[in-house]
Amino acid sequence: MTQDDPNVTILRALLEGEGSFVSGSRIARELGISRVGVWSRLEKLREGGFTVEAVRNRGYRLVEEPESFSPELVTARTELAGADIPIHFFPEIDSTNSEGERQLAAGRAVPFVVASCRQTAGRGRMGRRWHSPDEGNLYLSFVFRPQLAPSAMQAFTVWSGASICECLATNLDLPVRVKWPNDLLVDGRKVGGILTEARIDADRTRDLILGLGLNLNCRCARWPPEIRKIATSLRDAAGRTLSLNRVAAQLVTSVNRAYHEFVEDRYRDRFESLWHRYDALSGKLIEYTEKQTLRIGIANGIDPGGGLRVLRSDGSTAILVSGEVSLGSGTYATSH
Ligand code: BTN
Repeated sequence: MTQDDPNVTILRALLEGEGSFVSGSRIARELGISRVGVWSRLEKLREGGFTVEAVRNRGYRLVEEPESFSPELVTARTELAGADIPIHFFPEIDSTNSEGERQLAAGRAVPFVVASCRQTAGRGRMGRRWHSPDEGNLYLSFVFRPQLAPSAMQAFTVWSGASICECLATNLDLPVRVKWPNDLLVDGRKVGGILTEARIDADRTRDLILGLGLNLNCRCARWPPEIRKIATSLRDAAGRTLSLNRVAAQLVTSVNRAYHEFVEDRYRDRFESLWHRYDALSGKLIEYTEKQTLRIGIANGIDPGGGLRVLRSDGSTAILVSGEVSLGSGTYATSH
């Protein structure tokens, strides 16, 4: 779905109207088609779940948008928010990261987004499966060609994770936090995760795929109790159904912006402070593995390379660059 799709142009005009009427002749002019052509395109949008009011001599007004994913609407919104990135939507796919790889192999120009509402073989970190039912959740992969040194990947993933967390926390007004390196949590329970995969050429990152899975609208009441203890959805946290299309557009805009800030080296000033604001681990006792030994320490923010700083009991600091950490049983104050 690209910005020059006629439906995207119509939706952009209606969104710009912010609930007021937009004249049919204005839309017809922008599209270079007749007013009857506009009318028949609007009929198609209505069939797709949009409610558009039409009043003679006033024009058209967007009254309601579909609950299901609309690539046209997400594209129109992201464009209005200043992001220029095509979205390829699949109602069902094995894995959006795998589809990103296939599209790259087929020569698709970067950057682009692969979006889906259901994955049959969703992948998580550490070779785990990412359960991806069709319950109003989001599965997104962002495909970039950053020309960065492979050593910058960790910082990019952590920067993107913090930016996604900020996007969700501010737009949904929910206490979303990020657990190093890339788990998204609400009240200590997982609502989303990020899987970054890259193809490295000699000393350059050629292609980079950042996959985001988000439990947006699924209902957790049906989950087994042991899963409910460790995971939740944003819907359950908010106590209301969230707009799939609005959240998708906000995320696409935010990740696209985070990517440009990173590759243009405009992220450093805010990197550690942004992380600190949303850090789920700061000051907490954690368990981590070092030289194949399980250790404990106190999480103390990130370093400029995106590694996790851990205060050891002897007062020294370890920097973790890969792997996972889990919470220990206590909380201690640290200086940051
Ligand atoms: C994690 O283990 O926490 C990371 C999960 C990442 C899942 C997302 S869903 C969209 C993209 N496609 C995949 O197959 N995986 C990622």
